[in-house]
Amino acid sequence: MKKTLKYCYKILQLSWAANKFYAILSIVGTIYQSTLYPFILVIVLSNLLDRLGKHSIVTISDLSGLIGVFIISTLILMVITSYLETQSVLLDTRMDNYIDLQIQKKLTQLDPATFENSEFQNLLSQLEGVKGTIGVNVMRITAFIDSIFKLITASIVVSMTFPLFVPLMLVAVIPSFFSLDDYRNKVWKYFVEERSLLVRVSQYIKNLLSQDGTSKEVVIYKSGDVLYNKVKEHQKSYIQKFTKASEAGLPSVIGTRIIEFLAFLFTQFLNLKAVLAGSLGIGQFTLYFQQTQNIMLGAHGILDHYSSINMRNKYIEKYFEFMAKERIIHSPIDATPIPKEPLPPTIEFKNVSFKYPNTKRYILKNFNLLIHTGEKIAFVGENGAGKTTLIKLLLRFYDVTEGELLVNGVNIKHINLEKWYAIIGVLFQEFIKYQFTFKENVYFGNKKEANNLELLKDAIKKSGADEFVRDLPLKYDQTVGKMFKEGIDLSGGQWQKLALARTFFKNAPILILDEPTSAIDAKAEYEIFERVQELQKDKTVIIISHRFSTVRNADRILVLDEGRIIEEGSHELLMKKKGLYAELFNIQAQGYK
Ligand SMILES: Nc1ncnc2c1ncn2[C@@H]1O[C@H](COP(=O)(O)OP(=O)(O)O)[C@@H](O)[C@H]1O
Ligand SMILES: [Mg+2]
Repeated sequence: MKKTLKYCYKILQLSWAANKFYAILSIVGTIYQSTLYPFILVIVLSNLLDRLGKHSIVTISDLSGLIGVFIISTLILMVITSYLETQSVLLDTRMDNYIDLQIQKKLTQLDPATFENSEFQNLLSQLEGVKGTIGVNVMRITAFIDSIFKLITASIVVSMTFPLFVPLMLVAVIPSFFSLDDYRNKVWKYFVEERSLLVRVSQYIKNLLSQDGTSKEVVIYKSGDVLYNKVKEHQKSYIQKFTKASEAGLPSVIGTRIIEFLAFLFTQFLNLKAVLAGSLGIGQFTLYFQQTQNIMLGAHGILDHYSSINMRNKYIEKYFEFMAKERIIHSPIDATPIPKEPLPPTIEFKNVSFKYPNTKRYILKNFNLLIHTGEKIAFVGENGAGKTTLIKLLLRFYDVTEGELLVNGVNIKHINLEKWYAIIGVLFQEFIKYQFTFKENVYFGNKKEANNLELLKDAIKKSGADEFVRDLPLKYDQTVGKMFKEGIDLSGGQWQKLALARTFFKNAPILILDEPTSAIDAKAEYEIFERVQELQKDKTVIIISHRFSTVRNADRILVLDEGRIIEEGSHELLMKKKGLYAELFNIQAQGYK
């Protein structure tokens, strides 16, 4: 109960934040429309009937007060209904937009370790329908408040003559509450979990059928029908289960409604009796008939909306849970400055052991490595050897489980992360292909220098992206990618060069390339790596590849296997050693001889 009310309060706060005083206007308007206005009307009407029924002569001017009340209250109603009719879509949209922005903002505040967590991903995927649900709950809360009004006004009016009616009707609606609550418990999961599963399957298959990479395979293997039928089957079984559950709840819902109705009949029997005995006027009969009905509707409404809000809150809870998420890694508040000398700083892994959160296996065990200032290092090793994990630790996406990671002798945990990231340029395997202009793809590497045309041209030249920018109709201002109408798509290698230009544009003292070139052929990768090492003379460069044949120009090559360095040295040294490196180098070098 307390929790439900707390969530209601939070939801109304959201509504207020999104729509300001319109939010209140829409609640007040709804109450006026559905409770206050009918209430005024029935008072006017019963008064009128009573006066007319007294057989004395009544003139229009006697009724002017009643007519005035009727006209004014109706005019107010017209304004309010017009408002609600025309604005409700806009208000809903504003609410949706507001929640969307809140979610996006939260996403910008979280860190990679959070995103890699599968529970978090699950939570995220459940947020899809939450916007609509919050919107519906605002409506339900409004209706809930309205029901309270209805019940209170009707109770006051009716109790003046029939004090027993209120307790009687209240007792009569209780079974309804339980039957509805039970019904909701049965069908709720079809609104949420089962539904989101269906949506996810359908979305996934829609993507397979329509996306560039996958649709070709679908055509060749003629798997379209199979996929289509999968969605159809899913839908069918979903609807069947849903129907069964909702039909199972139906009899008791109808039954308890009949109980309400019987209680109402009984009250009206007493009402009618009073009229026939002459102690009530016709107008009053009408008033009590309508208001007793309102006691029933109000009480029923309170319980019904309450149970509905309650159910929906279980789902909306995910939103609040999401909004309460905190970063896993925090930048220290009183950070130690990174010593200025040397620049680029030395980086030292000292007895580092690491396992991912909530896992048992050590990816690195007692790992030691000192990277000197300006050194060109290459990590090679098969997939899963732990190369990217080393980079993630170096970027402090995760904290080491044991040991220390030192930057110019300072533990990375004591360094301000923003300052650390300011001196690192990274290009990952999954770099971003911004579907914006060519220029923006480069600028995003360093917004501060956005107007530095010199640096821009230089970065583009160094990366080799200048080779194809000439062919783009709008040159630097060309929208790239095909998400937007005017966009021109680039080839895999072109995208890589563009991303490399972005990394160069940042012009950071430390440069990390984590297999950004794995999608292009070994020869092209070799050329890019060679270019990076030549052009970045005064920088520390860390290059990662699973290809042994492409990193031979590095000062030091580290062969990784299961989180350990198994061979280390320059290309010449390692070749002389005739170990794993030499063996794999020779095998892979055949590839482009
Ligand atoms: N977020 C994660 N949670 C748990 N295990 C992970 C995570 N990321 C990577 N791993 C595991 O860590 C090992 C090393 O992965 P990674 O460093 O990405 O290898 P590489 O980059 O050398 O291919 C792999 O066994 C991988 O399954
Ligand atoms: Mg990797």
